[in-house]
Amino acid sequence: MGFAKNCVPYLRSLFAAIVVFVASIPAAVSASQLITDGPEILEIGRRIYQDGVLSSGAEVVATRIGREPVKGAKAACINCHRRSGMGQVEGDIPVQPITGNFLFSARSDKRLATMDPRISKRFNQAHDPYTEASLATAIRGGVNNRGRSMNEVMPRFNLSDTDLHALIAYLRQLSEEWSPGVTETSIRFATVITPDVDPARRKVMIDMLRTIFRQKNSSTVTPKQNRTRHHMVTAAEMILGTERSWDLEIWELQGEPSTWGAQLTALYRRRPVFALVSGASNSTWQPIHDFCDHEGVPSWFPSVDLPGQNPSDYAFYFSGGVALEAAVLARHLLDARAAAGRVVQVYRDDEVGRSAAQALRRSLEGKNIAVVDRLVSADLPAELALRGALHSIQPEDVVMFWLRSEDVAALGAIKPLVGQSYFSSLLAKGENAPLSAAWRPQSYLVYPYELPEKRAKNLDTFYAWTHLRKIPIVDLAMQSEIFFALNFMTDTLSEMLDNIHREYLVERAETMLSVREGTKSEQETRDRVALGRPGDLVKKHGAVTMNEAYRIPITGNLGSDEKTHGTTLYPHLSLGPEQRFASKGAYIVKFANDNGIQLTAKSELIVP
Ligand code: HEC
Repeated sequence: MGFAKNCVPYLRSLFAAIVVFVASIPAAVSASQLITDGPEILEIGRRIYQDGVLSSGAEVVATRIGREPVKGAKAACINCHRRSGMGQVEGDIPVQPITGNFLFSARSDKRLATMDPRISKRFNQAHDPYTEASLATAIRGGVNNRGRSMNEVMPRFNLSDTDLHALIAYLRQLSEEWSPGVTETSIRFATVITPDVDPARRKVMIDMLRTIFRQKNSSTVTPKQNRTRHHMVTAAEMILGTERSWDLEIWELQGEPSTWGAQLTALYRRRPVFALVSGASNSTWQPIHDFCDHEGVPSWFPSVDLPGQNPSDYAFYFSGGVALEAAVLARHLLDARAAAGRVVQVYRDDEVGRSAAQALRRSLEGKNIAVVDRLVSADLPAELALRGALHSIQPEDVVMFWLRSEDVAALGAIKPLVGQSYFSSLLAKGENAPLSAAWRPQSYLVYPYELPEKRAKNLDTFYAWTHLRKIPIVDLAMQSEIFFALNFMTDTLSEMLDNIHREYLVERAETMLSVREGTKSEQETRDRVALGRPGDLVKKHGAVTMNEAYRIPITGNLGSDEKTHGTTLYPHLSLGPEQRFASKGAYIVKFANDNGIQLTAKSELIVP
C-alpha cells in the first residue's frame, strides 16, 4: 500500500471528484466478532437491514424530521445503503458505505470507494473509526462520529440494545471479503454457451472473448508482480493497484435444458467464478438464470433470444428478447386498431416459440382480439409444415411469424398472404431475414434495434476493433453485444476499485448504465479496451476521425438532445434499481425494396 499512500495527494487532485476515503477493519476484530455473534444474531441483523423486521417480529420504524415515520420494508437500511452496504447516491445526496470495513477501520488503514460520477464535486472524508457507542448515536440519534447532525434523509431508528447489537454484528461482516472467484491479483469469469448455438457463432464468441481477455491481461500488471505497467488500466486503478488480471472459463453445456442446472453447479463447485460474462443461447436461458439467482452469481448481458422469465437479482439482459417483441407488436396492433380480425401466430413447438407465443397471447388478453396458434410441425419438411400451418388464413387476419431464418426462407416457395404479416427480428435475423420479394410488400418486422441509419456511428469503434484484431463479422448483433458486455464490465469493475463484491457489481451496473458518462477515467478505460495501444487506430486508419472513433460512450444521454453513441445495435440502454433489461423498446419496420437489407421505419420507437 506504500505506493498507493504516497500517491494519494496526486490521486486526490486528479480524482477527488469520484473518490471517497474510508477504512477497513482489521481482520482479527471481525473474526472474533463472528465467533461471539453466531448465525442467529446475524440473522436478526440481516432482517433489520434487509426486511425492516425487528427481533420481536415488529416492524422497524424510521422516524424522520418533519415528516411521517416510515415502517417495515420501506424503513430498512437496504433501501438506501443497498444490499452490499456500499451505499449509493440519492438525488445528489451521497449515502455512505456502512460495511464493517468502512465504519470501523483506522485512518491509517484507509480504503477507497468511488462514488457515483453524478456528484462529481462532492466526496466524503476519511473518518475516525466508529465504536459501538458512536454508531448507536448515529443510528438512534442521527449524529455521526464527527459530531455532525446528519442529513435528514438518514432516518433515526429507535432500536433496542439487542437489535442494535445484532445489526452492528451484521454490518461488521457485510461485504467484508471479496466474492468467490476473486483473489488479490485475479478475477475469474465464465461464459456459458448452450448446445443449440451453431458452431460458427460459438467459435466467434469464444475467439472474441479470448482476444479481449488476452488484451486486458497483456496490459494489466498488478503491483504484486512488480513489473512495468502498461496502459489498459485507469489512473485510479493504477495508483491504487486495484486492477486484476482476468481468467476465463468456457462452460459449454450439453444435453437437455433440464440437466444444465446440475452441470453448472458441478462446474462452479470445481472452480467458482465471480460472474458469468456474455454467453449465448438460442433456446432457453432459464436454467442459467436460476443457477445465478441461487448462487448469487451475476449473469452479465448474454446474447439470447429468451431471457429467464422470473424477476432476478443477478441476471442482466440487453432486452426482454421475444417477449419484448411480443409486447411491442401488441401495443402497435392496439394503437393502430389494425387488428379487427384475428391474430394468428405461427411458431415451432420449442422453448422460444412457445414462450414468444405465450407472451403475445398474454399481451393481447382482454383486448377483444382473438389469438389463434398455428404450430409448424417438426415431422414434415419446412415448406410442407408451413403450408399446413397457413391453411385457411383470412385476408383480414394479422399473422405473426415466430420463425427462424431457415423457415422464413422456406416461405418463399409459398404464395404470400393477402393480409399483414409480421416477423420477429431476433429469430429471423432482422434486415438479413431471407424474405422473398413476393412476401415483402405486406410484411413487417418487429425490430428491437436502433434503425440502421441512426446507429451507424455507434458501431465505429466496434468495427475498428474487430478490424484491428482480424475478427470476422459472423453475427453483428451478437458480436457487438459481446463487445459492449466486456467494455461495460471493465468500466464497472474499475469504478469498484478494491471492493469486488457481486452485489456491489449489480448495484454499480444499475446506476452506471444510466448515468451520463463524463469522468475521464471511465473514458480512458473505454479507449484502451476498445483499441489496445493508443495510436493503433491512427496507424491503421489515419488520425482524421480519431476523436470520434476513440469515443465509446456506453450510456445514452438521458434527458439530452445530443445523439447517443452506444456500442451496440440497441436504441438506448439504461437501467435503474431492480431493472434487468437495458433496452426497452422496438420499432415496426418494413423492407424498403424487393431485395437487399434496406429498411423503412413504420413506427416511432415503441416502448410498451
Ligand atoms: C432513507 C434513506 C436511508 C435509510 C433507510 C438509512 N440510511 Fe443511513 N444514511 C443515509 C444518508 C443519506 C446518510 C448520510 C447522511 C449525512 O452524511 O449527512 C446516511 C448515513 C449513515 C451512517 C453514517 C455513515 C458515516 O460514514 O458516518 C450510518 C452509520 C448509517 N447511515 C446507518 C444506517 C442504518 C444502520 C440504517 C438502517 C437501520 C440506515 N442507515 C438507514 C440514508 C439512509
